[in-house]
Order: sequence, then structure tokens, then C-alpha cells
Amino acid sequence: MSTFTFPENFLWGGAIAANQAEGAYLEGGKGLTLVDLLPTGESRRDIMKGYVPSLTPLENEFYPSHEAIDFYHRYPEDIALFAEMGFKALRVSISWARIFPTGEEAQPNEAGLQFYDDLFDALIQNGIEPVVTLAHFDVPVALVEKYGSWRSRKLVDRFETYSRTVLARYKNKVKYWMTFNEINMLLHLPFLGAGLTFKEGDNVKQIQYQAAHHQLVASALAVKACHELIPDAMIGCMLAAGSFYPYTCNPEDVYQGMEKDRESYFFIDVQSRGEYPGYAKRFFRDHGLTIEMEPGDEQILRDHTVDYIGFSYYSSRTTSTDPEVIKNMTSGNVFGSVANPYVAKSEWGWTIDPKGFRITANQLHDRYQKPLFVVENGLGAHDEPTAEGTIADDYRIDYLQRHIAEMGEAIQDGVDIIGYTSWGPIDIVSASSGEMRKRYGYIYVDRDNEGHGTLKREKKKSFDWYKQVIASRGADL
Ligand code: BG6
Repeated sequence: MSTFTFPENFLWGGAIAANQAEGAYLEGGKGLTLVDLLPTGESRRDIMKGYVPSLTPLENEFYPSHEAIDFYHRYPEDIALFAEMGFKALRVSISWARIFPTGEEAQPNEAGLQFYDDLFDALIQNGIEPVVTLAHFDVPVALVEKYGSWRSRKLVDRFETYSRTVLARYKNKVKYWMTFNEINMLLHLPFLGAGLTFKEGDNVKQIQYQAAHHQLVASALAVKACHELIPDAMIGCMLAAGSFYPYTCNPEDVYQGMEKDRESYFFIDVQSRGEYPGYAKRFFRDHGLTIEMEPGDEQILRDHTVDYIGFSYYSSRTTSTDPEVIKNMTSGNVFGSVANPYVAKSEWGWTIDPKGFRITANQLHDRYQKPLFVVENGLGAHDEPTAEGTIADDYRIDYLQRHIAEMGEAIQDGVDIIGYTSWGPIDIVSASSGEMRKRYGYIYVDRDNEGHGTLKREKKKSFDWYKQVIASRGADL
């Protein structure tokens, strides 16, 4: 029993993404999107890094996004369950290719627009605030094919048209927006983050940072559009957060920890403070990178900064300059972390560090002095039904309980946190592995890694637990 009660208007809820939940990948006029090219299995990681064998789905592969959990058809049932848990907010994303199937149509696809109208209406009728990400690992494949995705300046205009279309359409329904999900993912899994593909001999860093510039300008233009079209809305950025710890107090380790954090902060520094930081300019100089900017770009970045900092937190990260220490990396961690001997790991090798959540939230607060929104957190775990067919996911409850407690501590430290949407409140496809087996939900979905199963939804033990957390405003963990 904790003694702290979260603020009354705190946005408790869950978060999903179109590509991991909706399925119906070509229904309602939707075009192919980059995630529709990510199979399960061995090749997935290389493709996410930008080594993409084909821009059309291959015969012998299984693509989990194509059906996902069929949220496209089943969302009324799912939303009823979220409402039963007392959700105040649901974070979803709009699939760009449902609205502009090739990214370049003169008119948006009405069936796609109508789908999100119906979805937002269903949420609002259930007292749930929609929190909407404009781009969650989502670029129409036609734009990848034609322009090389975010390598090209063209994407800035295409994205602006898309953003303005959906902001205008949903201006009376959606008051919380976010531009790019985990924008710093572009440096780690550039195809997943930005649709970037590479061939031998490419200057990968140059391409990545040029694409990053395009996304940063596009993000600022979406902020501008949101402020013009929906003055009473808030629009934020979204960082894959998790502070780096130096492995030792050797100043070399400490300095490297700072540099690693800056690799990610770079994006948010631009989105929130409105200019390229000095350390980034030095990095470009030192690496011989030249970022092409158009006249006016710097002004756009300066004038249209975000209203809040959205972030995901799963793990802290650890770094070392000692060649012996770095032999022991944690598996499964996209951000490249050495193993931290003081904390546990999930089945997928992700560090479990609740205190790191408080540290990260405090650091983001100290740096940006803007409201924070925790838009992802959770434990990906394999759930085994008992003989009676129920899921007693005490491990998940334990993870969430300890993280929510630390979030309460951060608020008491003075950090302004406006909401918490845990990742995958209903089981969905894993982004990093493509598996269904890696589950985050309070609601079980009967589907396996190969796409078998009835898709039936069942409450897990954590369902009632989270319901009580929300009802007690975090006092009863
Ligand atoms: C974040 C993404 O990286 O982590 C989500 O924004 C993703 O899309 C989540 O699903 C959890 O990662 P995974 O790989 O376990 O699904």
C-alpha cells in the first residue's frame, strides 16, 4: 500500500500502435506500410536496420502486422474492456497509409479517415481520451520506393499534408497529439524508425542525420499545424528514454555515458528547445557530416517547439570504455547496453530497473522543464495459462507496481507528469521481434507466433489489479 495518490486529472491508460494491433493491412483502401515488410524470425533485425531484400512481401515469410490482433474489426470489444478497467486515455497511432495509401494522393482516402473517426468516437463515448501519434514506425512503402523515404526532403511536404489532414479532421475529438514515436530509433533501427534502406558503401551516418533533419522539420511543421488548427490541444515529441549509467566512476566512462544520452537527447533538444545543440554541431564536424538545410528551417525549428515530452521507459542502460566489460552486453537491447550487475533482466534480456524510471523522469524534467507524459512502460513476458485457462501474471504486476511507485516518487520530486499509458494493455505484436509470445497485456489474445489462434480476448490477473490502481489513483498498488 503506497501513501501517495496521483493527481485527479492524471491520464491513466494504455498505448498501442496501428501497425502492431490493427491488422487489415490492405483493407479499406490502405496502402502497404514499412512494417508490412517485417517478417518474424531471423531476418527481421537486419531488415529493421535497413537491409531490405524486397519492397513487396515475400511468399515464404510470415508477416505478423498483416492481421496482427485484428483491432481494426474488434476495437469495440477491446475498448469496452479498457473502459471496464477505468482507462482515462488510450494512446493509438494513425496509419499514414490508411489516409494516403501511396503518400501522394490528391485527396485522402475517406474509408481510412472514417475508420479513425469511428475509433475516436468509440473512445470518447467510453470516457477515454484519445492520445494520437502521427507516425509510429509507419511510412507508406510507395514513398520508400520512390524517394528513399526520409532521406528525401519530399517527405517533409508529404508528411505536412498528411498531418494537416488528420489534425483538421479530428480537431474536435483529439486534444493530445504526438509527432514521431521514439524519434531516436532512427539511429538504431533506421528502417523501422524512418523507412531508410542502405546498400554497401553508403555513408550511413550522413543519411541518418539528414533524414533526422527532415523528421525534425516535419515534426515542427506538425506542431505549427496543430497550434493553428486546434489551439486547445497539446502536441508532444516522443523519446525512447532510459538514462545511461557509467559502468564505473572512471571519468572516461562518465563522459561516454553523457555522450550516449546526448545521442538521444539530440532529437528532443531540437524539438523542445528549438535549435541544434552545440555538441551536435561538433559531432557533425568531427564526423565530416553536412546537414543540408533549406532557408527558413532554423526559424521553423525555433518557432514551433513541442508542448510536452512524451517518452517510453522500459530499461536503464549502462556504458563502459573498458574492452573487457563491453564483452558482456545485454541481449535484446536495441540501444546497446552492457550488463548491469545490480539489476534483473526480463526473459528477452531487457534490464528491469524501476529506480531508473525515477532517475530518467527527473533528468528529463531538469533538462526541459515541460510536462512529461509516460506513453510506454511495461514488461514483455511469455504467459502460460494455468490448467483452468487463466493467466496469473504476477511478474507483470510486480514490474508495473514497482515502476508506478517510482513514478509517484518522481511526481513528489516535483516532476510534472500528466499521464501514464502502459504499453500493450492488450497483447499485440512485438515490434522488435515480431512475436506474439512477447506479451505486455492485461488482456490475453489467443494468437501465437505463427498466426494460429482464435483471437479470443481473456482477462489476465493483472486486469483487476490495474483497474484497482486506476480506481485508487495509484494509492492501492
Ligand atoms: C517501443 C515501441 O520501442 O517498445 C513499441 O514504441 C514497442 O512499438 C515497444 O512495441 C516494446 O517493444 P517490443 O519489441 O517488446 O514490442
